[in-house]
Amino acid sequence: MYNAEKVIPFIIVLIVFFTIPMWLNFGRLEAIPQPELPKKEKKCIESKEYMRAYHMKLLDNWRKKAIRENQHVYVASDGKTHTISLQRTCMKCHTNKEKFCDKCHDFVITHPDCWDCHIAPEVAKKWQ
Ligand code: HEC
Ligand code: HEC
Ligand code: HEC
Repeated sequence: MYNAEKVIPFIIVLIVFFTIPMWLNFGRLEAIPQPELPKKEKKCIESKEYMRAYHMKLLDNWRKKAIRENQHVYVASDGKTHTISLQRTCMKCHTNKEKFCDKCHDFVITHPDCWDCHIAPEVAKKWQ
């Protein structure tokens, strides 16, 4: 006959072993960044999904439009117009770079150099 005292701990070890991937994933879900979203405004200039996937392209486009084409108005897909400006438009709603942009960027380990020259709102506040 088998020895329950030895078999049961063995089964427990097996269960833990086979569920390790699940536990690891569990931890990872918790770690997914939660950027702090604006409280007053409900919508970004484009849909959340679009912004999530394409904000880097959109910003690159804005930069080209403003600097090379001297064009300072962006017409969004809903027909609304926005001033082309990182500091005055994006950061007017996203008022904290550390709690918004950096939350995701630290997670994916990317550090765009924009803030070498552009001024984050929380930095601007310190100077006032
Ligand atoms: C009028 C205010 C406003 C402006 C201007 C604005 N945003 Fe947003 N942004 C929001 C809101 C509100 C959300 C959340 C939308 C939602 O939950 O549907 C958001 C969402 C996002 C997201 C997705 C966040 C996530 O958790 O998936 C990114 C990225 C983003 N914005 C970047 C930008 C950038 C870059 C600019 C400038 C080009 C910009 N936003 C301009 C209000 C704004
Ligand atoms: C929902 C998460 C999220 C938020 C919020 C977010 N980003 Fe990003 N950002 C990313 C991801 C993911 C990438 C792509 C990284 C890569 O391709 O290596 C990226 C890339 C970029 C890039 C291109 C970087 C490069 O080196 O080419 C720029 C510029 C950028 N983000 C600007 C911003 C700004 C400005 C904000 C705040 C207004 C912001 N992002 C907020 C997730 C986010
Ligand atoms: C070497 C300094 C420098 C760096 C780095 C830099 N910029 Fe700029 N950017 C400028 C200057 C200067 C202007 C022109 C300002 C003006 O015309 O008022 C500008 C203008 C812009 C504009 C249009 C006008 C405005 O007010 O926003 C956008 C959008 C922009 N930059 C986005 C970016 C993004 C996104 C990054 C990072 C990927 C970045 N810049 C990195 C210096 C820089």
